[in-house]
Amino acid sequence: MDALPEGTVTFLFTDVEGSTELLTKVGKDAYGELLEEHRGLVDAAVGDANGSVVDTQGDAFFAAFPGASAAVACAARLQRELAGTALRVRMGIHTGQPTLTPNGYVGLDVPRAARICAAAHGGQVLLSRTTHDLVEDELPDGVGLRSLGEHRLKDLTSPQQLSQLVIAGLPDTFPSLRTLENRPTNLPVQATPLIGRERELIGVSELLGRADVRLLTLTGPGGAGKTRLALQAAAELVEDFPQGVFLVALEPIADPALLLPTVGQTVGAKETASLSDFLAPKQILLVLDNVEHLLNATPALSALLAAAPRLKLLVTSRTPLHLSGEHEFQVPPLELPDPARLPDAAALSQYEAVALFVERARAVKADFAITNANAPAVAELCVRLDGLPLAIELAAARAKLLSPQALLARLEQRFDLLTGGPRDQPERQQTLRATIDWSYELLGPGEQTLFARLAVFAGGCTLEAAEAVCGDGGLLTMLSTLLDNNLLGQEEQPDGEPRFTMLETIRAYALDRLAASSESDDVRRRHATYFLALAAETEERDEGSLVVDWKAVERELDNFRSALEWFKATGENEATATFVTQLAQLWDTTGHIAEEQRWLAWAASVDAGLSPRLQARLTLARATLGWRLMDFERGRKLAEQAIALFRELGDESYTAWSLSSLSIVEGMTGSFAKSDALADEAIRIFNTIGHRTGALIVGHNQALAALAAGNPDRARSLLEESLARAQELESDKNTGNALLDLGIVALHDGRYDDALPLFAEGLESAVRTGWRHNISYSLRGLAALESTRGEAQTAARLLGAAEALDERLGHTVQPYAERIFARNTAPVLEHLTDESIAAEWAAGRALSDPDAVALARACVAERVPL
Ligand SMILES: Nc1ncnc2c1ncn2[C@@H]1O[C@H](COP(=O)(O)OP(=O)(O)OP(=O)(O)O)[C@@H](O)[C@H]1O
Ligand SMILES: [Mg+2]
Repeated sequence: MDALPEGTVTFLFTDVEGSTELLTKVGKDAYGELLEEHRGLVDAAVGDANGSVVDTQGDAFFAAFPGASAAVACAARLQRELAGTALRVRMGIHTGQPTLTPNGYVGLDVPRAARICAAAHGGQVLLSRTTHDLVEDELPDGVGLRSLGEHRLKDLTSPQQLSQLVIAGLPDTFPSLRTLENRPTNLPVQATPLIGRERELIGVSELLGRADVRLLTLTGPGGAGKTRLALQAAAELVEDFPQGVFLVALEPIADPALLLPTVGQTVGAKETASLSDFLAPKQILLVLDNVEHLLNATPALSALLAAAPRLKLLVTSRTPLHLSGEHEFQVPPLELPDPARLPDAAALSQYEAVALFVERARAVKADFAITNANAPAVAELCVRLDGLPLAIELAAARAKLLSPQALLARLEQRFDLLTGGPRDQPERQQTLRATIDWSYELLGPGEQTLFARLAVFAGGCTLEAAEAVCGDGGLLTMLSTLLDNNLLGQEEQPDGEPRFTMLETIRAYALDRLAASSESDDVRRRHATYFLALAAETEERDEGSLVVDWKAVERELDNFRSALEWFKATGENEATATFVTQLAQLWDTTGHIAEEQRWLAWAASVDAGLSPRLQARLTLARATLGWRLMDFERGRKLAEQAIALFRELGDESYTAWSLSSLSIVEGMTGSFAKSDALADEAIRIFNTIGHRTGALIVGHNQALAALAAGNPDRARSLLEESLARAQELESDKNTGNALLDLGIVALHDGRYDDALPLFAEGLESAVRTGWRHNISYSLRGLAALESTRGEAQTAARLLGAAEALDERLGHTVQPYAERIFARNTAPVLEHLTDESIAAEWAAGRALSDPDAVALARACVAERVPL
């Protein structure tokens, strides 16, 4: 396509009238030929007028022109040419100043032009006022203009001046325009244009177009844009409901008994008693807006639907009605940018949430614009406000006095900030607090209490955590009410268990409620205690024979943080520092090293008041952090200190762990003999005290150090020992781990036939114990084997799967293993530029965990004679 015009651009939309009927009349083949001819005419006419076809959809075209007169001439020429065919085409022309982005035009002029086209009849060309004024004095020969007065387009904005082209020799009288004032409807004018929502509008109108969907409920939290979406969807459907599309505003109706009478008044039925008779023969769409507080009365709607077979209801409600035959459509937040990866200012304004902010900010400050300086703040604001349209509008209303940066800084007091919506907004939407109040007041007392308690969770909670912290009977029922009311969200975790979340905006409100209640301290204590216990349990699992799902534990990071802060604030230093030592492994494993450093530093600042045991544990944690950060001197010194401290305390188990830590530092710095001796000593202690898992783990680490030191035979015999111990202990986790590393040693030695069953069994153990890191190692091991057999494509697929899995886990392959794998897989990786190899790699990357496992099993099955 040629470059699209920029600056002042004139848009032409065309659409074939009655295309479905025509298709059935002339048949598919003849219709196809007609369209072919049509397309040729359009291309030629647009090209000659210096325009570009931007988009086509079926038989509809969207073209852009640098000049308005050229666009008009093009439309007139097309109508003349089409007059000789069976096609009747409606056209709309509008001129504006759109923004041109790599994704095409953005701005409100494109949908405006489409709306103008939609108002026309076949053979008719409609013009906006802007285009009319531009072309008035330079019309082509044989073309005139006729003003048609003001009309309401289906975008629900205030009426627009429209004109029509009068083309010599062609018909110039048409039925009344397909605009709102010519259809039975009471849909109100909207003061502002609708932003985005294209996908949702398609979704809603597809649903309502289905014969089996007669009751559609748009749900979402207060201010999510349910009403706005319902009104727009309804406006677009006016042609489908000959007896009309009517809005029934129920928000001011407090008494459920008034639901049907209000409907009756709106549609002009004389008496309530005859409402179903009145509606029975009619094809009507009713928009019942804000029904959540009238749920008692909604069963009557089912009766109405039964009596009037062509009636449809589009309902907005913060909670579904739970009527049979009801379809629910959850209105999502506005589309949000990712603040971590901000595009340039123009692309940023394409995100719905940002576009709404900018629109509303301009209403109070005409020169407001997104700049490089304020873009991060605007994006962050939209994200912090959860993409909730009402919250964004209320924030943007403050843009007159406050820059986005200043707004963001004040967001902590969001409920004081987000007030002062326009007076014509219903009272419950004039402040954000009032919006959520309205939902809160509709809850029962038990649910209100639970709602406030749930605010204590930062970043959501599992069902188990909700039970432990919020307690009390009836939890499940009450949770589902909160979910229904959209005061709570639900996500499925990878293990299939639900996780409950709150929008930040709603949580801030619930936190206020919690703070105002007498039980705030209790709830916070229960929360902190629960997460302290969870950290302790995780530590125990990790040191024992059970696999820890670190990703799942990491999901609780915000909860751990707030529990830790709570303990610190209570001044219980011993408990806080214990918590810190228990979280050290989580921080290590998930890479939150800075956080770990900060908390260890805090613990050092209160060190003197802590018990000697805890001081020793903190020293060990600092030692480990030291060598992880490659500060080997510090790691060595602290590990030695830890050994001394634990010896003094007579704590043999931790003495052994500290020896093991020192052994690792020595191994990392090349002092293999020292490292080996220290590990031996640790194992001796573990053996004496009967800590068999400890002995096994240290032995395993010792083997890896031997491998790194270039001593694979010793590595193999140590791993065989670990394997025997693990089998004795019936520890699936450690057995699988030993098998995998034995596989890696076999790979190193070039004993490929030995390696295969080792990787296969290691894989099965990793699947059983949920140790996903080791699934990745198995995939890589198998890839190395495939690669040596010249099966580059399978190898590439396995490697792609392993890489994607590691990304999901935030895991990196250990250097000792990476070196060994790479020897075999290097040829494959070098050929990633080959199309077929790259395609396999990409296909592997797209595999889910279970599919990756299935692929690995298939490779194994093919190689091993069963
Ligand atoms: N896509 C949009 N474009 C422009 N404005 C929008 C959009 N969506 C919502 N708004 C505006 O945001 C505000 C809240 O939207 P709306 O009233 O539709 O929310 P709601 O979900 O019906 O809320 P409630 O539950 O309180 O009835 C309104 O001022 C509305 O005009
Ligand atoms: Mg509403």
